[in-house]
Amino acid sequence: MLFPPEAVEYAQNLSDALPLSPSLRVLDFGCGYGHVTRLIAPEVACIGFWDAAESMRTAAARNLASVDNAFPWDEGDLDQPFDLVLVNSVVQYMTADELAGRLRQFAQMLRPGGRVILSDLSPPGHRPLADIWSLFHFSARRGYLLTAARNTLPLSDGVTATPGAAAAGKPPGVKPR
Ligand SMILES: C[S@@+](CC[C@H](N)C(=O)[O-])C[C@H]1O[C@@H](n2cnc3c(N)ncnc32)[C@H](O)[C@@H]1O
Repeated sequence: MLFPPEAVEYAQNLSDALPLSPSLRVLDFGCGYGHVTRLIAPEVACIGFWDAAESMRTAAARNLASVDNAFPWDEGDLDQPFDLVLVNSVVQYMTADELAGRLRQFAQMLRPGGRVILSDLSPPGHRPLADIWSLFHFSARRGYLLTAARNTLPLSDGVTATPGAAAAGKPPGVKPR
């Protein structure tokens, strides 16, 4: 799961790579807690958010309640086209068939010239421990290593410090330890 500072870095990289504009309709697919949604919202016309995990959809809706131009996307709504679909740190949780299906769906949902931005992809055979090391390294450099550790590692009673935080980075259906 992205922490807010990682979302800031992502939003900066995105706007460096692709100028955002107040006319854009954007979808944050696999939005997690909605940190990225919140940062992109002021730069665009509106931003839909959706996550495969109901708990994440609920958390994102709560976190984004005060963001006027952010809206929960209805997965069945293919009628309102988007200019941009953001898929950050999500593809690794999909099967190849699911990814292929989603890409076809995005193609149907995009306006001509619209884009899908896939980012933070884990190649097949990647080592999860290397991800954890990388997360801690990133957090230590930004001064919130203890928070990252609390949110990532199981406590002695088997409950994470932030309910849902551990599951948020895992495929739907995986319960927090
Ligand atoms: C590492 S988090 C990234 C969250 C967000 N994109 C961000 O950048 O902060 C991965 C998110 O993908 C969601 N997810 C996992 N499998 C998914 C799928 N097949 N389709 C959509 N979202 C999925 C998880 O529930 C989780 O919220």
